[in-house]
Amino acid sequence: MAEKAKIAVFISGTGTNMAALLYASRLPGSAFEIVLVASNKANAEGLKLAELEGISTFVHSHKGHSRESHDLAMEKAVRKANADYIVLAGYMRILSDEFVTRWLGRLINIHPSLLPKYKGLETHARAIDAGDSHGGASVHLVVPELDAGEVLAQVEVQIAPNDTPDALAERVKIAEHQLYPRAVSDYVSRGNDPAHLFERVRTLALALPETHERESHGSPGFRVGSEKTGKYFAYFSDRHHGSEHIALLVKTSGMDELMDLVEAQPEAYYKPAFYGASGWVGVILNRVDIDWDSVSEWLTRSWRSVAPARLTKLQDAADMF
Ligand code: GRF
Repeated sequence: MAEKAKIAVFISGTGTNMAALLYASRLPGSAFEIVLVASNKANAEGLKLAELEGISTFVHSHKGHSRESHDLAMEKAVRKANADYIVLAGYMRILSDEFVTRWLGRLINIHPSLLPKYKGLETHARAIDAGDSHGGASVHLVVPELDAGEVLAQVEVQIAPNDTPDALAERVKIAEHQLYPRAVSDYVSRGNDPAHLFERVRTLALALPETHERESHGSPGFRVGSEKTGKYFAYFSDRHHGSEHIALLVKTSGMDELMDLVEAQPEAYYKPAFYGASGWVGVILNRVDIDWDSVSEWLTRSWRSVAPARLTKLQDAADMF
């Protein structure tokens, strides 16, 4: 089984979502573990529970600090705890754009509404006032714009005829406690999920001009040119030939470059069996720090190295604009 994803949870209050995450992480087969609970409030109720359960805690009051410097202090604790992801659970501070940008794709939040409805505060009262049939909760990725990142999962909660914001909030919380651990688990696992990784590679590869998919020796491959005379520029390898990696195989300029890459960044590249001998490098996809821009660049470069001049010229012209 893959190593567990390490999570830091940020709280400001009761921390019931943190508790739900914590106990879910203790169930057999959990995909994540909590390595830190951090708060901007020393009296946050959730800290006591985390301590009782033997989880490291960190407190740094935001009072008297700029947003950036407070975020930096929190981030330092996260890095010290070696966390791969930050999960916000009732963290009542808006994070600086710089901080959010540094953690893009690894920063998750839960919001008590069915996003994109009711960003911000007073979500339950707004849902009731609008006459909605349901309230609910959304787990989403955090981006600089408030409550606007990709929604990963949602759960609906029925609104009763004479509902009050407090009563609805209480039921939504119960739903949140089911939703959050599941959504976090699915999200942190997707980097090890061959189907998810393949879909991403496939979308990038087939976005290049005149490409198609063709299997080769049991692995999916991508070719440029016609069905008849096309040439392979990439292969997707799911732990093939005894490799432990899920990887994209692309062409380098030759053995020197291949060996340099593997030596300098063994966490990102390896020399695949068979293909390695002719200068194909394995770009490791099942890693926390995967950089999809770099994957996309490799695909383009490999495509260029085998595409007919007719196509690369068109691409050069397009790139100039
Ligand atoms: C939850 O309703 C969550 O959706 C919102 O803040 C609340 C946190 O509650 N972001 P708790 O501290 O987890 O109990």
